[in-house]
Amino acid sequence: MAFIFTVVALSSWLRLTLALLTPADFKGIGGAADPSFFESVVEFPPWLASLTQRTSWPTEANPPFIRTPGLDLSSGIPANPLHQQVTACVSQCSFDCNGCLGPNDIAACSQLLQTFDDGPTDATPALLDFFKSSGQISSFFVIGTQVLAFPDTLRAEHQAGHFIGSHTWNHPYLPSLSNEDVAAQLQWASWAINVTAGIVPRYFRPPYGGLDDRVRAIALKLGLMPVVWAHDTNDWRMIEENRTENQTLADVQSWISTSSTGVILEHDRAAITVNTGMKIHQMVGQQRLAAPACKNAGAPWYQ
Ligand SMILES: *[C@@H]1O[C@H](CO)[C@@H](O)[C@H](O)[C@H]1NC(C)=O
Ligand SMILES: *[C@@H]1O[C@H](CO)[C@@H](O)[C@H](O)[C@H]1NC(C)=O
Ligand SMILES: *[C@@H]1O[C@H](CO)[C@@H](O)[C@H](O)[C@H]1NC(C)=O
Ligand SMILES: [Zn+2]
Repeated sequence: MAFIFTVVALSSWLRLTLALLTPADFKGIGGAADPSFFESVVEFPPWLASLTQRTSWPTEANPPFIRTPGLDLSSGIPANPLHQQVTACVSQCSFDCNGCLGPNDIAACSQLLQTFDDGPTDATPALLDFFKSSGQISSFFVIGTQVLAFPDTLRAEHQAGHFIGSHTWNHPYLPSLSNEDVAAQLQWASWAINVTAGIVPRYFRPPYGGLDDRVRAIALKLGLMPVVWAHDTNDWRMIEENRTENQTLADVQSWISTSSTGVILEHDRAAITVNTGMKIHQMVGQQRLAAPACKNAGAPWYQ
């Protein structure tokens, strides 16, 4: 399978400075929240307080790892070296470094399948309205801190029947983090999604495609399987760089002309990418699956 990204594309990702329309006290994807902001939107529930011995959602750059019953990080995790994005790629089965897929990873699909990362944001409701009017479901990989900033949008997404997966707590490059910090990123995202929408994800998408066997093993201990992609729209370059919508749509047209299969990476991060997403939906057509069904029809979406 050919992967449509390059070292240049990935290093551009590193330079992203994200400017989102967000509530005043929340700095947006990868950014911090003022202390007590999250609690003002989504109550930190008693069961999570008793599990974590905390009284509030994390505002640290790295959320704390919480030892929970039955979660054992002391065995069964490959001792791969930690590495930064791009600069120190390792020769493992790594999706972002060499396009390698693990046995549980979803990238192939029997149809061209749209997936949207980095929400919920102010741009997401327009996409939900669009899918409602076309009677379709789609797949969303949500960031924990965005979930707490836009809880009503996550609930609307879930209630409309869309598939929800985790996209970590605050969007780090997971192969650069310790085992405990990787686990913490996945724990806190699952808790934010559970507290907000009452579902515990079974699938996650690693930010920047940062996925090796160490990250896979830790995720599996938390009940999470990876969804990556076969086609990258590079739609974020329409926000951050000079990519045009026509260039993006031309890529989609070429995927339609060639195999017409595989998971497509998009973002509901801004109005411009959401608008392009609607056009892509009209191009790829109706009868979309949800991401889990690409590999295993009928598989449950949540734990
Ligand atoms: C999900 O939330 C419920 C309470 O609504 C809680 O009992 C359960 O332990 C939570 N599970 C996870 C994995 O967060
Ligand atoms: C986009 O910008 C890059 C430099 O940032 C330049 O090399 C490229 O030619 C530009 N492309 C278009 C279509 O303007
Ligand atoms: C984009 O493509 C459409 C349809 O092919 C064309 O009408 C339009 O002029 C193009 N826009 C730009 C800016 O190239
Ligand atoms: Zn992302």
